[in-house]
Parts: sequence; C-alpha cells; structure tokens
Amino acid sequence: MASSNTLTVIDNRTATRYELPIENGTIRAMDLRKIRTDSDDLGLMIYDPAYVNTASCRSSITFIDGERGILRYRGYPIETLAQHCTFLEVAYLLLFGDLPTPDDLKNWVSEITYHTMLHETTKKFMEGFRHDAHPMAMLVSTVAALSTVYPKAREIHDPANRLQQIKRLIGKMPSIAAMSYRHSLGFPYVYPDNDLSYPENFMNMLWKMVEPKYVANPVIARALDILFILHADHEQNCSANAMRSVGSARTDPYLTTAAAAAALAGPLHGGANEAVIEMLDEIGSKENVPTYVKKIKEGHGKLMGFGHRVYKNYDPRANIIKRTAENVFAATGRNPKLDIALELERIVLEDEYFITRKLYPNVDFYSGIIYQAMGFKPEMFTVLFAIPRTAGWLAQWQEMLTDPEQKISRPRQVYTGHELRQFVPVEKRVPVLHTTG
Ligand code: CMC
Repeated sequence: MASSNTLTVIDNRTATRYELPIENGTIRAMDLRKIRTDSDDLGLMIYDPAYVNTASCRSSITFIDGERGILRYRGYPIETLAQHCTFLEVAYLLLFGDLPTPDDLKNWVSEITYHTMLHETTKKFMEGFRHDAHPMAMLVSTVAALSTVYPKAREIHDPANRLQQIKRLIGKMPSIAAMSYRHSLGFPYVYPDNDLSYPENFMNMLWKMVEPKYVANPVIARALDILFILHADHEQNCSANAMRSVGSARTDPYLTTAAAAAALAGPLHGGANEAVIEMLDEIGSKENVPTYVKKIKEGHGKLMGFGHRVYKNYDPRANIIKRTAENVFAATGRNPKLDIALELERIVLEDEYFITRKLYPNVDFYSGIIYQAMGFKPEMFTVLFAIPRTAGWLAQWQEMLTDPEQKISRPRQVYTGHELRQFVPVEKRVPVLHTTG
C-alpha cells in the first residue's frame, strides 16, 4: 500500500511503477530522473516552457493566492502594510523577515539615507546618454556601472558586505532614477537632501528648481510611498526570476540588479504601466471603449494592464491604487484618462471573453494614471516601479544565496535541431531558403 503523500506513476513504456514523494504540493523534478527506459536513458524531464507550473525555489518572503486575490509580505497583508507603514519599513520587513522596532527603523532609515549620494563619476556617465534616451535604459546601465565603483561587491558570500551593497542599492536607486529624469529634460542634477524622507527626497531630486528649499506635497509624498510599498515584491515574477538566475552565477549585486531591471523594462512586465497610458491615449474617449475591446477580442493585441500569470481575481494592489488615486486627484486635479479606464474596466469585467479567461485589472492598470497626474512622463513609470522593487529583488537574491539547495540556474531543453551533419566547405555550399519568424 503506497503512502498517501506520494504520487504513483506507471511508465507504460516499461510497465514499471514508481512512488514519488509529494511535499508542499510538489514532486521533485529530479525524482523523475529514475524513470528511464534503459540505462542509456537520461531519465524523464519536465517540459515547462515559461515555467508556468514549476516551483523554482522555497521562499518565505511573499505569499500570493491568485485565486482569492491575496498578497502578503512576510505574512502581513498588503492592505495593512500600505495603510500603516512607510516603504523603508516594508523594505526592512522584506529583507530581514520582521517589522523593525522603533530603534531598528531609525537606524535603517539613517543608513539608507547615508547611501543616497552617487559617486561624482556617475554624472559624467549619465552625460554620455543621448538627450532622448529612455530613462529605464539609463537606469539599467547606470546600476550596472555601479559595479565599477564598488568592486568589493563581488564578495557576495560575506553577509556584512552583502548588507552594505543592499543599503547602497536601496539608497541610490531614487538618485539614479531622478538623474535619468533630469537628464531627459536637460535640467541640472539635484543632490540628495538627508533631511527629507525617502519619497520626499526623491521628489526633491526630481522637481526642485530654483527655490531655496523644495517642499514636497505631503499627499503626493504619501501616495508615492504607498505605490512603493505595493511594488516592493511579488514573489517569482519575471524580474525576480532574472535576479535569482543571474545571481546564481555569483555575479555581483549591481550587475544582477541591472539584469532584473532589464527584465522589468519589458512591456509584458513593468513596462505595462507605460503601455496602459499609450492604450488609453489610443482609445481617446469613453465612447470608443467598446470598439477597442472588440478589436482586442478579435485578436488584435492585448489589453494592457489586464491579466496576470498568478492572479485570476482582482489584483489587490490595483484596488489600493484605485483608492489612492482619489487622494492624489484631490491634490493634482483629476486625470481625464481615469474615466476611460473606469469605463474600460466596467465593460471588460462584464464581458464573457475576459470573464472566462479570468482577466482582471493588474497593478499597472491604474498606477500610470496616478503617476501621470503627479507629473511624471510615461517613460518614467517603469523607473518608478524599479525603485521599490529593488528591495524585493535583493531579498530574493539573499534568500537564494543562503539557500543550501540552490545552485547555478540552468534549465534543460528538448533539442529539436539536426542530428549529426556533414560539414560542407564554403565554396561547395548551395543556397538554402531561410525563413525568419
Ligand atoms: N488582453 C487580452 N487577452 C489576454 C490578456 C490581455 N491583457 N492577457 C491574457 N489574455 C488571454 C490570452 O490571449 C489567452 O487567451 P487564449 O486562451 O484564447 O489563448 C488567455 O488570456 C491566457 O493568457 P496567457 O497569455 O496564457 O497568460 P500569461 O499568464 O502567459 O500572461 C500576462 C500573463 C500578464 C503576460 C498577460 O496577461 C498580458 O500580456 N497582459 C498584458 C500586459 C500586462 O498588463 N502586464 C503586466 C502584468 S502585472 C505587473 C507585472 O508583472 O509587471
């Protein structure tokens, strides 16, 4: 009689029966290796393009229940954290596993603040970019370039050294982001001001002009901090996976974070918030929404800001953003795109196509509308996502490095190419018609 916590597999090729242990709702892919036809057979593998049903790690950082629309960091509901915490408090929680005491928080905030300054050569580096360079590309390159400033960061097995780089990255990210923004406008860079909170300091570096002291609007500063909390981590998404995968090669944290940020830049990931604004511009008015939705259903593109690999319900972050938008609009004036977005959401949530596919608004659907009302250009939206996600990436990176089960990430493949071919010297080769696609 087989144990109840096992999976029985019968290989019909050999009529052999196997018992595979089930742990945490998973079987170990390596247990399949023993399922072979003969001694030359490498063993059974799992074919899972895009890892849709593969757990690549154990993690105690973020919990998502996609069916019920639940998101928790280290056990705390996102709604509670967004209501009661600052982003730096949440970053501490993600990295250290528990909420900070008042003393811990004071020290943490002061240490992060201490690291907001960038090496002066970063300015020169930034000046090399074209005036119209995408801020996200500037951010990715500049974060990678920090690897040249901090060569000691390579010592990733030293916990104290790791923590030093973590603080630097969280501290410097807003400074790099603001620099890339000012560069694209041709404005002089503003140095960090250590008297200010994390979001206020960021706003100061973005928007200070000739006034002696920039005073951030507290409503916008708090909304920005809430948005940072919502974006801080999201378990094994594309960029976290890039962070773990690149980091598994023992690459330093600056290059690794740059790789994660590069993944975030894509329109199917963090780049979606920018794409949502483009889509709302294309729709133009509420009246055009039904025609646009019809076009999507006929297979012409995707509705940006809808759908998620894990959430098959309303993204809890989208709910919080929608509520935060009201406070922001009270301070900035209403973004007219909100009406188009609300109409789009209303129509889509009643439409059979989207209902059957469980496509709901995700975090990117409303965030761009708020960012735009705050005065950000769409090109900055993904940069705004990258700032807080750095804390999540680094928490995932630390967890990966300290997990004894983890090794260099290296998936297998199903080879579909030629068998052994005869080499033909160049002068004897005949043209072959190649198709691209
Ligand atoms: N609009 C229209 N149809 C969609 C959409 C959409 N946004 N998303 C998925 N579908 C359809 C898809 O065509 C497929 O239909 P069918 O079964 O007929 O082939 C079905 O829904 C299942 O979709 P999928 O492509 O298997 O889903 P996925 O898990 O591979 O993709 C996704 C998830 C987020 C990439 C996708 O939903 C998408 O491209 N959404 C738009 C981009 C977006 O908003 N991205 C932000 C994601 S949230 C924040 C983040 O992670 O950065």
